[in-house]
Amino acid sequence: MPTPQRVSTIPVAPGALPVLGHLPAFLRDPLAFLRTLPAHGSLVTVRLGSVPVVLVCDPELVRTMLVHDRVFDKGGPLFDRLREAGGQGLATCPAHEHRRQRRLVQPAFRAGRFPDYARIMSERMDTIISGWRAGQTLDVTTAVRGIAADIVVSAIFGSRLDPADHHRLVTDFDTLLAGFSMHTLLPRALRGIRTPGNVRYLEATDRVRRTMTRLTAEYRRRGTPDGETNLLSLLMAARDPDSDAPALSDDELVDQAVTMYSAGTETTAGAISWALYLADAHPEVRARLTEEARTVLAGRAADWDDVPRLPYTRQVLLEAIRMYPPGWFLTRRTETDTHLGRHAVHQGTTIAYSPYLIGRLPGLYERPDHFDPDRWRTQDGRKPRVPATVFGGGARKCVGDEFSLLEGTLLLSTVVARWDMELDRDTVTVPKIPQLTLSPGRLRATLRTPARRPVAG
Ligand code: HEM
Repeated sequence: MPTPQRVSTIPVAPGALPVLGHLPAFLRDPLAFLRTLPAHGSLVTVRLGSVPVVLVCDPELVRTMLVHDRVFDKGGPLFDRLREAGGQGLATCPAHEHRRQRRLVQPAFRAGRFPDYARIMSERMDTIISGWRAGQTLDVTTAVRGIAADIVVSAIFGSRLDPADHHRLVTDFDTLLAGFSMHTLLPRALRGIRTPGNVRYLEATDRVRRTMTRLTAEYRRRGTPDGETNLLSLLMAARDPDSDAPALSDDELVDQAVTMYSAGTETTAGAISWALYLADAHPEVRARLTEEARTVLAGRAADWDDVPRLPYTRQVLLEAIRMYPPGWFLTRRTETDTHLGRHAVHQGTTIAYSPYLIGRLPGLYERPDHFDPDRWRTQDGRKPRVPATVFGGGARKCVGDEFSLLEGTLLLSTVVARWDMELDRDTVTVPKIPQLTLSPGRLRATLRTPARRPVAG
């Protein structure tokens, strides 16, 4: 990064209170607060209690920051807390450790593995959705999260999870996510106090790790069935090129399992739930989405071969994650004194980017608050781009981006093809305080069997 000719100081956002800084405004409505910040500059300092955080509001500078991942390394309060839960897996490890881990994990996400993943996804969602009944009231976010968890676990362990373990992981993750934002923002002294909320959070964090440790040990004992590959089998088989010893210790395997489960469940589930929510609010979008799915699938669960014929479904998903990106606020810590644009940034600075903010920039998207899946339409049948920064960027870009878009396309199309969902909009609790991920809170729907279409001819 070249040193700029003129160095400017980073402005502090107005309205900071003594001691609390911008924390009350951030907690009151973080999404609205974030959107006030670009007016003050491309980099703006906000004070979340005692912690100053520099928010990068310019998409080009976000890109520069993400590309220079050794200077702007994973760190800041968000990743400090994530490491407590997930150890030093791919998403949380420092840059000097990252290349090795990414090389080991990447084969599980190569394009050649996707038809297999699609088969697992299709089979799992078919089984679960076939259990739904007409007239039933469904808690949509919970149901979708259950399917996403099931699919990620199959990708990690290759086998289905015992229902009791599944239930425990889902419940503990709920507790962990519910307490995460508060726990991240609390000063260290307050985090240690044994309030019921703190105790619940710490116990759930501990149980998630213990459950994953046990499941990983059980997997090692059982061994991988012939002809099967999954994330754990690939990681266990990986060898250090110098010593031929296993590349990852047992503890590191658990770190990766926790990382994949946590990075892959709530994010994808959020994307699908937002897509259902937004389509429901836009009848013309819902009609096109449903028409595409019913024409292509004719009652089947979607599978790999259907994907090229579901372009509108993918557009709806992309537009949903532009407007409500599951990873909405992410932090880094600068490893050296450096520059970003015209600004000097000192070593040890906590610096953040918000895919939510970037997705709503009027300079980047026309009418950014308007839900318009057609912005992602391509003329030539090629896959559309992905909204800027929704999956991060540079070497730390999401390893599961295509996995989640595949899962989202299959699940969204299968659900709308099979069911008319009557969303009870009074039950929607779009959260004011987003958790670690941005999810549409509670979302209830009554399921109706679609009216049969007249048979042509
Ligand atoms: C819509 C769904 C998803 C969204 C929006 C999303 C978003 C993101 C973002 C923004 C990052 C970068 C974080 C940063 O810059 O600090 C990231 C990284 C990551 N994601 Fe995702 N993600 C999704 C689905 C998944 C899935 C399904 C998996 C795994 C099965 C996954 C695994 C990971 C991992 C391991 C990383 C860290 C990559 C690295 O540092 O090399 N994600 N994701």
